[in-house]
Amino acid sequence: MNKQVQLGRTNMKVYPVGLGCMGFSHASGAPTDHATAVKTIREAYEMGYDFFDTAECYTGVYPDGTISYNEILVGEALKDVRDKVVIATKCGVTHGGDHLILDSSPARIRSSVEGSLKKLGTDHIDLYYQHRIDPKVEPEDVAEVMGDLIREGKILAWGISETTEDYLRRANAVTSVTAIENRYSMMARWHESIFPVCEELGITYVAFSPMANGFLTGKYNAQTQFEGKEDFRSRMPQYTEEGYAKAKGLLDLLLHMAEEKQVTPAQISLAWMICKKSYIIPIPGSRKPERLRENLGAGEIILTAKEIESIDTRLDGMEFDVFGGHGGK
Ligand SMILES: NC(=O)c1ccc[n+]([C@@H]2O[C@H](COP(=O)([O-])OP(=O)(O)OC[C@H]3O[C@@H](n4cnc5c(N)ncnc54)[C@H](OP(=O)(O)O)[C@@H]3O)[C@@H](O)[C@H]2O)c1
Repeated sequence: MNKQVQLGRTNMKVYPVGLGCMGFSHASGAPTDHATAVKTIREAYEMGYDFFDTAECYTGVYPDGTISYNEILVGEALKDVRDKVVIATKCGVTHGGDHLILDSSPARIRSSVEGSLKKLGTDHIDLYYQHRIDPKVEPEDVAEVMGDLIREGKILAWGISETTEDYLRRANAVTSVTAIENRYSMMARWHESIFPVCEELGITYVAFSPMANGFLTGKYNAQTQFEGKEDFRSRMPQYTEEGYAKAKGLLDLLLHMAEEKQVTPAQISLAWMICKKSYIIPIPGSRKPERLRENLGAGEIILTAKEIESIDTRLDGMEFDVFGGHGGK
């Protein structure tokens, strides 16, 4: 795994496929038991992952009623290799049942960073995101507190998740933003308009849900049973009969390309964005070592500009039902 991508204008460099750790605790059914999760995250590191994504709010409840804190799992798994990895975590969101509770007040960011440092068992966070825009707080105020945290050495760099161009520009004018973390996949392209801003400001685009919540792996169908409502995929429009019907053309295209290149649809879907822009880093999530290896391998696949353009032209003519979505672009 020799490829390296620079994070924003910092001197941090990572492999172009990161690991989204959320599913070990949150949104994928019951949390993975503590020991297995720590072992699997560690295995991911041994395989070559060096960029790990977690969040303060990635929690879940074990069958015995205790809480799985994702940050604790990540911190424990990477404790003795702390200086060889980049850990990103987020603040500003708590889950309130079916909605998100947003709080990016400076006081809350300060208390969150202390909690995350403690759970991760580290003295600094490499990349600290505001998880969602909080309409009650100006971007300049968030950027100012992030700047203070950088000067204090508690975080090395900061970013914004699900940002808009205007918010990003205003925040960046106060404290340089290193990365944004927005949804992006072949089925979710509506943030492409922010690419020129990333280029202009030297900001990395970390792509979350890069396989449309696993859909683009082609390993599921409308009959797949997910683990109740605790697995968020059971409520996602792409996993309904209609959702499959609409995306059939895309799944066929992925299968065809995968066969031609002797790789997998998941790998094509990730390589498509990695090869499109050098500053895009997908962070697919999986709890299974063989899938972690498969996803990591996408970083080695080359798609030419012509291949990417031809995929994009096909995507332009498609509409999807997809979670978080606006039907494609
Ligand atoms: N900033 C934000 O607001 C935000 C929001 C959502 C997610 N995220 C981050 O982005 C990461 C990834 O996003 P995501 O989990 O929503 O979506 P994703 O990476 O597109 O898909 C993950 C899902 O696909 C399955 N999967 C992964 N690799 C597979 C493979 N090779 N074959 C078959 N199935 C596979 C996983 O199940 P198994 O675990 O069973 O393999 C998991 O359910 C998260 O872990 C989190 O860190 C950030």
